[in-house]
Amino acid sequence: MTLKVHHIGYLVKKIDAAISSFEKLGYHITQDKVYDDIRKVNICFMEKDGYCIELVSPAAEDSVVSGLMKRYKNSPYHICYETDDFEKDYMTLVSDGFVAIDTPTPAPALGGREVVFLTSAVMGMIELIKG
Ligand code: NI
Repeated sequence: MTLKVHHIGYLVKKIDAAISSFEKLGYHITQDKVYDDIRKVNICFMEKDGYCIELVSPAAEDSVVSGLMKRYKNSPYHICYETDDFEKDYMTLVSDGFVAIDTPTPAPALGGREVVFLTSAVMGMIELIKG
């Protein structure tokens, strides 16, 4: 497997306020807010010193992150890894004990590229994105 860190996913309750706060720390927007209607979240990408963060904010009561938001509040919650061999690496991770928590689905905030979320008993959640 050759995985490359793509971004760190960061849960935020109030996305506009969070964007302003990250800007004060020196982050700049690399992709303005996008509404993901599959997951019912607003997403914004920001960058600082080569580190890319993805702000994810619930846009509805039944968004995919509403449960996580209650548990974690404002917090980083996944690292996304990019792979040129999506299907193979996905299968390898599953056979290594990662459990898929959804199926590969296009991500509107990432140009429609396929992503899947997996969880590990010892690592928590990761995201895999097709390179
Ligand atoms: Ni992500």
